[in-house]
Amino acid sequence: MNIALVGYGKMGKEIEKVAIGREHSIVDRISATNRGKHLNLHDADIAIEFSHPGATLQNITTCIDQKIPVVCGTTGWVKDFDAAVDYCKNHNGTFFYASNFSPGVNMFFKLNRALAKIMTRFTDYSVHIEEVHHVHKKDSPSGTAITLAEAILQNINRLDKWQVGNSTNNILGIHSERTGEVPGIHKIRYENDTDIITIRHDAKNRKGFAVGAVMVSEWIIGKSGYFTMDDYLNSDHLKFAFY
Ligand SMILES: NC(=O)c1ccc[n+]([C@@H]2O[C@H](COP(=O)([O-])OP(=O)(O)OC[C@H]3O[C@@H](n4cnc5c(N)ncnc54)[C@H](OP(=O)(O)O)[C@@H]3O)[C@@H](O)[C@H]2O)c1
Repeated sequence: MNIALVGYGKMGKEIEKVAIGREHSIVDRISATNRGKHLNLHDADIAIEFSHPGATLQNITTCIDQKIPVVCGTTGWVKDFDAAVDYCKNHNGTFFYASNFSPGVNMFFKLNRALAKIMTRFTDYSVHIEEVHHVHKKDSPSGTAITLAEAILQNINRLDKWQVGNSTNNILGIHSERTGEVPGIHKIRYENDTDIITIRHDAKNRKGFAVGAVMVSEWIIGKSGYFTMDDYLNSDHLKFAFY
């Protein structure tokens, strides 16, 4: 594949290493400084977009206009998200979004859903999410924490919404911490008078995110529509590799 990296920061550089290791070529490395007024991606088979929340919607619609499938991992642009999905559908584009591309985190998402399904019946437990990331991260709470929270809300009947801060009877609290160079830690904690149940994922580095983004890019070529990690993880393609 000929890959355009839209966003060539920490993630773009990590994706480049993984992509070259899987015998793909990088045909464009685009950052805010060399972007120019208009993105031009004519040599690319696919664009992998890990940039800045303020730039993401425009980057995605530009890729769709140029008939380039776009795999996006930028977080913190929730307000524009539906517009991107609609644009993809209305223009026969190809758009894949995941708040977290790490295969391990996606297993953690499944564990989170399964645990929430159990805990909905144990109403004396409070639920709380904590996430820790490096000090350069621009969005808070993390996109991964929001994905975890939404799955908990779908499965625990007593919770109505999430908020930044403490949990209350019907609100799921998310606490965010920014420190050092931590690639990403997410914890979900259930607590009552007698015990605490915690599940936790620690990213050791950024490689897992990059591997996931490149594997998804290989899979999405030739498809059209809007896709998520569930589509990828449930595809026949992956069953042999993961289950
Ligand atoms: N989904 C996942 O699995 C996952 C995993 C890790 C990170 N992320 C997310 O990915 C995003 C990028 O993370 P990072 O650590 O790579 O950030 P980073 O090191 O700050 O890099 C961001 C890159 O985007 C570029 N950029 C900014 N505005 C742009 C624009 N208008 N067009 C094109 N490129 C633009 C920056 O260019 P300059 O250098 O010129 O400013 C820089 O190259 C963040 O939202 C982060 O939360 C997602």
